[in-house]
Amino acid sequence: MMSFVTGTRSDGGIMTKETFYITTPIYYPSGQLHIGHSYSTVAVDAMARYKRMRGYDVFFLTGTDEHGQKIQQTAESAGKSPQEYLDEMAVEIKKLWKILDIEYDGFIRTTDDYHEKAVQAIYQQLYDQGDIYKGSYEGLYCTPCEAFWTEGQAVDGCCPDCGAKVEITKETSYFFRLSAYADRLLKMFEDDPEFLLPRSRANEMINNFIKPGLEDVAVTRTSFDWGVRIPFDSEHIAYVWIDALSNYITALGYPHDMTLYNRYWPADVHVIGKEIVRFHSLIWPALLMALKLPLPKQIFAHGWLLFEGDKMSKSKGNVVDPIILTEKYGVDAIRYFLLRNVPFGSDGNFTNRALIERINSDLANDLGNLLNRTVAMIVKSFPEGLPDDYAEEPVDVELDDFADETLKQVEATMDHLEFNHALEAIWAHVGRCNKYIDVTMPWILAREEKDRARLASVLYSLADNLRRIAVMISPFMTRTPVRMREQLGIPESDSEEQGSLTSWKSAGQRDLYQGNANVRRGRPMFPRIDVEKELESLEALL
Ligand code: ME8
Ligand code: MG
Repeated sequence: MMSFVTGTRSDGGIMTKETFYITTPIYYPSGQLHIGHSYSTVAVDAMARYKRMRGYDVFFLTGTDEHGQKIQQTAESAGKSPQEYLDEMAVEIKKLWKILDIEYDGFIRTTDDYHEKAVQAIYQQLYDQGDIYKGSYEGLYCTPCEAFWTEGQAVDGCCPDCGAKVEITKETSYFFRLSAYADRLLKMFEDDPEFLLPRSRANEMINNFIKPGLEDVAVTRTSFDWGVRIPFDSEHIAYVWIDALSNYITALGYPHDMTLYNRYWPADVHVIGKEIVRFHSLIWPALLMALKLPLPKQIFAHGWLLFEGDKMSKSKGNVVDPIILTEKYGVDAIRYFLLRNVPFGSDGNFTNRALIERINSDLANDLGNLLNRTVAMIVKSFPEGLPDDYAEEPVDVELDDFADETLKQVEATMDHLEFNHALEAIWAHVGRCNKYIDVTMPWILAREEKDRARLASVLYSLADNLRRIAVMISPFMTRTPVRMREQLGIPESDSEEQGSLTSWKSAGQRDLYQGNANVRRGRPMFPRIDVEKELESLEALL
């Protein structure tokens, strides 16, 4: 059957879905991942789900960055071989993504054989072309960031990014001619103001790095050995950032098996945290230019989740455990909070109080009550299901009109990864529906037989709008839409099926809800939490 999804194009008579390739950073398994890593991954998952619902052929890549000095040291201090340590960590990380309902299409580990071979091929090509030359590195190194710094860039002997002490490092190294790409990098930023978002980050790159003069980067190490061996000089291993950045193409099979690469590259968006913009928007494009490959269409650098004003990080130990939070409040509450609370791109504080207050107000109160009240009234007055013979009554269309507008706003904001605005728009609609209940007072209508048709019409309006809300929140929340439909008696179906009430398209249509006898009250989706009591008990846990 021909699909009616948007985002398709016609290729010689065959409908091919347009592709959408989105990535998270590949995380260092040098400690348990925390709510900061979950933030990027949940955001990418929401975007991937949204694009799938819009009919795109999506490839969502995540993974782990497993080489480098820090990993080697961490494994050693755990009394394990790096590989043994990493295999255990990869299991833990995949478990975390499962708990958070992350539906990735690819999971790359940089110790995967195909990736190591691809990195070697990349180094060989760059060396053969003269983009890599031998030299000697003398400068500073920050192990937590795996970053080289100059004396001038360091701040009182500390890393300007993470604040850790930098070490004086001197070793023979091969260098990548980053300096040769300065003009093209500048032009890249100028030609496409959306290449790196938020825009302020591009200005930082231009003013702080390109204009003062880009230096060539050391791209091999010799002082330890946990890395990809360099094919043209076996004493050297690959600098972990070159190894890591390559993942975005090696995961698609580049250069040895080009099927996925040809289908998905260039990436539509690399989502990253703001501290790794330099690597992604200078070194990575220059590497691709050197390899004569197309550049990613966009890099989106989101802000940091701060914990008591400080960046949450493994090296600082101030991390918040997403598994504990999910066990306590449910995956949807955590996903909602992460995407709703701060604009994607800005820093934001993570506090347990803010989390609990959001759950109480937006989820328990606004959405939870709307569903509860609607379902309770339907069950009480129309246990056989809402009739459809109230047509002679003037039917209210204000909620339907509002839903149309909401959908437009969600689509417009999602295109710019403005998750918080998308959710804000949906919650304005939720609020409008609650207000509709207050104004129409269905509990009064329920008292008189003569108001029965009007009552049915009001409840129908609510049920139908809840149906549309359930679809609109589906990219963000994975379980709530199902629980909403369960209570409203709406069948689950494959969203690409014709007439599916879970498809994105159905969120744009009114009056698809069908009265039925399966409407039933459920347990509250988001029980109200006693803020002060809960904070005390969390204090003891975290
Ligand atoms: O940098 N707030 O890995 P990493 C928001 N391996 N996001 C946060 C965060 C916080 N407090 N803490 C972590 C690396 N993140 C490299 C990446 S990519 C080719 C290689 C998220 O384990 C955010 O996305 O240090 C950040 O960029 C990433 O985790 C860093 O993870
Ligand atoms: Mg980091």
